[in-house]
Amino acid sequence: MKDFVIIGHKALTTGDFSLNDLPGSAGRMDILCRCINSALFLSHGMRRDINVHLVLLGEPDPGKIIRFNGEELRYLNPDERSSGSLIKKALEKDATDFETRSTPGVWIRRGGLEKLIKEFSENKRKMYYLREDGEDVRAVTDLEDDAVFVLGDHMGVTEEEEDIINNDNSETLSIGPLSLHSDHCITIILNELDRFEQPKKD
Ligand SMILES: C[S@@+](CC[C@H](N)C(=O)[O-])C[C@H]1O[C@@H](n2cnc3c(N)ncnc32)[C@H](O)[C@@H]1O
Repeated sequence: MKDFVIIGHKALTTGDFSLNDLPGSAGRMDILCRCINSALFLSHGMRRDINVHLVLLGEPDPGKIIRFNGEELRYLNPDERSSGSLIKKALEKDATDFETRSTPGVWIRRGGLEKLIKEFSENKRKMYYLREDGEDVRAVTDLEDDAVFVLGDHMGVTEEEEDIINNDNSETLSIGPLSLHSDHCITIILNELDRFEQPKKD
């Protein structure tokens, strides 16, 4: 599996939001919805080897992690309202320290970035923190296909979060010189991995 972690600094942490106002009262939930779509959808299918972890840090109950698992996922359509609706259903569950399934392939628990990074480190997973000034992805010759990619939202990543992400198992990776939207970064990274895994035949 490949894993994507996206930090939603303002994302509402209860299901008490309107699907008609994902960018507003839901705390830029639209960004997270687009990340889900970029990570999971192909033109006529779904990437089954992907987990997306949304770290929700907004009010009123900060510190929830929603995981979308491509292998088991059902009822997701490629529009923001559809992913927004699955997030809303997950947030309507009582989150505990352990994962609870809200709909097939969608899980929720309490926690934040520190918990996730610790788990990935314990499992010896290679982590790439996506940052504009990181090492050029095209210069990396051993991009692992079960890597973990960590991205910020419209607010980027705070220094405190960077301290959590930067450890012996992580590297900073850039996908190009310009600052792009998080969902576009995911599309580009997956394209790089696709090309890496299935090199063009002569
Ligand atoms: C919209 S950008 C963040 C912009 C934010 N205003 C800032 O200054 O950090 C969202 C996230 O996408 C990732 N990102 C954007 N452009 C990138 C690039 N060229 N290379 C690697 N990661 C990038 C980073 O993880 C960033 O936190």
